[in-house]
Parts: sequence; structure tokens; C-alpha cells
Amino acid sequence: MTTAAGLPVTAADRYIEYAGTFRLVRKIAVGGMATVYEAEQLGPAGFAKRIALKVIHPQYAKQKEWLQLFIDEAKLSANLMHGNIVQIYQLGEVAGEYFIAMEFIQGPTLRLVIDRHWELGQRIPLPLAAYVASRVCRALDFAHNFVAPDKRRLDIVHRDVSPGNVMASWDGHIKLADFGIAKARTSIDPAAGRQFLMGKKHYMSPEQILGLSVDARSDVFAVGVVLYELLALEPLFTEDITQLAIDEVAVHPTPNIRAKIPGIDPELEQIISVALNKDPALRPTAAAMGHDLDEWCAAQTQIPSPDRLHDHLAKLFPTTFQPAKHSGEKTSFSNLKKSAKRLAVGQAAARGAQRKRTPWWARVLGKD
Ligand SMILES: Nc1ncnc2c1ncn2[C@@H]1O[C@H](COP(=O)(O)OP(=O)(O)OP(=O)(O)O)[C@@H](O)[C@H]1O
Ligand SMILES: [Mg+2]
Repeated sequence: MTTAAGLPVTAADRYIEYAGTFRLVRKIAVGGMATVYEAEQLGPAGFAKRIALKVIHPQYAKQKEWLQLFIDEAKLSANLMHGNIVQIYQLGEVAGEYFIAMEFIQGPTLRLVIDRHWELGQRIPLPLAAYVASRVCRALDFAHNFVAPDKRRLDIVHRDVSPGNVMASWDGHIKLADFGIAKARTSIDPAAGRQFLMGKKHYMSPEQILGLSVDARSDVFAVGVVLYELLALEPLFTEDITQLAIDEVAVHPTPNIRAKIPGIDPELEQIISVALNKDPALRPTAAAMGHDLDEWCAAQTQIPSPDRLHDHLAKLFPTTFQPAKHSGEKTSFSNLKKSAKRLAVGQAAARGAQRKRTPWWARVLGKD
């Protein structure tokens, strides 16, 4: 084996031990399966990288079958590197406690964004909602079609696309979190050690809630449910009792979208309803759904963008908004026009000044 520079890799090179350590900064949340911390990964000479650390609750990690499924899935997702996916840095274990170190996202989850709009009684602008969903589709398309270095298709399915797992960074980028950790969670009950339906049933596809095998198309259904909720500001499915939830998702007809989101653009309504098809074969791929959403966005007068989402979040969360970069002048077409105008005005002034400086005799003699 050789390195990129063409030098042979020795056995010693291959076994460089991970020697870092973590410093917990604050507890962000205690979820159903884990506690999430903001932390620092420390290295030599004061090196410190801000990360998120997800520490799995011990009752899960003690369950051998669960743990194996969890580790297998985390291994599959470890190499997913995409702008719309929260990157996993490391899966580790300390004294029987398992943790995942991952990219730290500064910004709210969609759960918070939806709840904030609801509190304010304001709808999310349709183009921004469509933009968010299109970025989630891009993340899914990448994962669904991801191939291992040996060219094997991994057939990765997220299984838990929900508002709590989609984050918006303050600077307006969308990141899908928790790839590869839902399989164990949705298939095995750690308490009883048997196949069981756990997880967020209100975002599950009919096949998932029925406990059938799922594939990429199940995630597309979930994006449809999330997009619906972004627009309606209320969940599409609400039943908590498992049997009733199964009826609601898999048996009853899909609720009327227009009735809940009055005035919705027919094209956007169509994009949501095809994603919500009960028959997976009739749903689009994540790539096709993302493409349709992007086309729809491009036809809007307010074309959505990270800058627009950034501005929207700043207004929505005035006290917590904390972008990672200084918001100086943005590069946009209007700014370019402004700069060009400034340049033209400057040049004209310089020409004027030059004319003024030309002595009268030179002008009379035609020497300017
Ligand atoms: N990579 C991350 N960067 C920053 N904050 C994160 C990150 N991942 C998760 N969080 C925060 O931690 C919270 C809990 O995440 P966690 O994944 O444990 O729970 P959840 O997805 O909201 O729901 P569940 O408990 O059902 O999994 C999130 O709501 C989010 O605020
Ligand atoms: Mg999560």
C-alpha cells in the first residue's frame, strides 16, 4: 500500500492509536436514547475542537444484540461526508459507556423552528420550508446511493427523519443528524430484548410502522411528513397508542393537505402528496423530490438561500441567534452592482479632478 505521495505505508503507520480526550462543556439535552453534550476534543499544544458528544444511555449499551446493531450501523454511516449531513467523527467506548463524537451544529433543530413559529402565530415562508426539505432530500440521496470504498452499495436508510433530527446552522445551512442510529432503536426494545416498535412513530412510513422491511423510499415518506409539518405547523400524524398510530399511518386515507394548509401552491401540494403515497413504489426517489423542490424554489420571487434562512433565523430567535461568522456585507448581485456604481462614480471624479489639474495652456494647445 502507498500513501498519496507514493511512499509505502508501514505497519506502524497503520496502527496510530487515538490519543485524544474530551472535555464536556455543557449538557445540551437528554434524549430517549442518549445524552448529548457540547464538548471539546483536545489534542497537543492546546488544540481543541468543538464537537457534539452523544453518550448512549447504559440500559441500551448493556443489551448485546442492540449494541451490535448500533455499532454495525454507525460503522456504515461513518464515512458519510456531505454538506447536509452531520458528520460522525468517532464511535468510542469508555468503561462500557458508548459515545459518538460528531460535528457540532450551532443552531436550532426544526423542532424548535416549528415550535417558535407556532408560538408567534406565523407561518414559515413556503420557499424556506421547501428549501429545508430539498436539502434534507440531498442528504438522503447521498446516503441512499452511497458506495463503500470497495464500490459496494451500502443501502443506508436513515429511518428517523424527523424535526428533532434536522438542524439549521445559524448561517443558514441544513444538516441531517443521527444517520445510522435508528435501526437498533426502532427494532429492539432494550428492556424486553425482543423485536419492538420504538422511535418516533409519527414520522414513520406505513411499511416501517407495520414492522416490514424498509428501504430508501421510507425516508422519502418521512420528508413528506416533515415538510407537511413545516407548512401546517402541526404534525400530520398524532396518535400515541401504537395500534391507533398504525391505523392512522397505514390504513386510513392520508389527510387532505389543502384543508390544513390553505392556499398552498398546487405544485408544492403535489410534491408532498406523492412523497406521502402509501405504496412505496409510487413515491419519488429523494433525488427526484429534491430536484422538484429546487425547481419550485427557483420559480419563486423570493428564491430561498442560506442567506435568506440566516436572516429569517436571526429574526426568529433574536436572543439566541449566534452566527459563527461576522455578518459583513454579503456578496450578492445588488452589492456587485453597488460596487460597480461606486467604481464608476470614483473614476468620473478622478477624471474631473484630472481635468481640473490640467493647466489652461495645455487645454488650449490640445495637450490634455
Ligand atoms: N450534532 C449536534 N450538534 C449540536 N446539537 C446537537 C447535535 N445533535 C443533537 N443535538 C442536540 O441535542 C438534542 C438531543 O438530540 P437527540 O438526538 O438525543 O434527541 P432527538 O433527536 O431530539 O430525539 P430522540 O431522543 O428521539 O433521539 C437535539 O434536539 C439537539 O438540540
Ligand atoms: Mg437526534
